[in-house]
Amino acid sequence: MSKHYTTIKLRKEQTTAWITLDRPDKLNAINATMLQELSEALDTTERDVNVRCVIITGAGEKAFSAGADITELHRLTQETAAELSRKGQQAFTKIETMSKPVIAAINGYALGGGLELALACDFRLASNNAELGFPEMKLGIIPGWGGTQRLTWTVGAADAKRMIMLGERVKAEEALKIGLVDKVVPLDELEAETNALSKRLVEHPTEALKLAKHSVNSVTKSILESGLKKETEFFALLFSKKKTKERMDAFVSKRNKKEGDL
Ligand code: COA
Repeated sequence: MSKHYTTIKLRKEQTTAWITLDRPDKLNAINATMLQELSEALDTTERDVNVRCVIITGAGEKAFSAGADITELHRLTQETAAELSRKGQQAFTKIETMSKPVIAAINGYALGGGLELALACDFRLASNNAELGFPEMKLGIIPGWGGTQRLTWTVGAADAKRMIMLGERVKAEEALKIGLVDKVVPLDELEAETNALSKRLVEHPTEALKLAKHSVNSVTKSILESGLKKETEFFALLFSKKKTKERMDAFVSKRNKKEGDL
């Protein structure tokens, strides 16, 4: 576990590995480097026989992750958007197929790709300041890293459509009510609560835990695979539209303007 990462941190505490998304000044927005490093860290933790549970969280007190890095998204073409969609889906599917339980400790905003990442985890604990949602519609796109599929399987079509088609963000307590998260705790207790859950999990026999996870996931596996392909096709298609670029440019140029004002 000695590799030096630039956008994430990986640390081991006894039998648990903590992966921290680490761009707090950008609300842990997921850029290409972070996606690659996350994917590598997942491989590392899967290979490490001493790791029996993985926890993913965000640095800082404001965000788990505010989603894919829009400053990178706005340059995409239909082809490169499809590629990015597949890359993200592959990375997040690793979480689902790995032999160890993975917990998302959601410490604030989990938006877009951030929520898609959390949805791929086996358990989701949220701090009471967390807000979860899919703002993609505002940009003229749809979630492309599995969100349309995993949200629907997690909360059902009605709430999935409300969150994706209307872009409604839900606060932690509502997320708990609709089954989007498993528990809500005060922010300063999130780490301890997540450790406690991890401890409960690793007390169980490793092989049984792994087969239980795979067995539950097998219910949706083949449907999920075909749904993910559809999602990539539609996600990429929206990048061929001129308006999509304009909406993303507006987000990016607002940032540039802010910098220029300084
Ligand atoms: N991609 C790139 N940068 C992002 C980002 C994203 N998805 N989300 C936030 N950031 C950056 C901001 O540009 C800002 O950077 P700057 O200080 O260099 O200008 C920094 O993170 C802090 O964000 P800011 O918007 O100033 O914080 P806020 O508290 O006012 O608002 C949000 C928080 C989450 C509501 C707002 O950042 C937001 O709407 N982000 C975009 C979310 C989104 O659309 N995600 C889906 C992408 S497909």
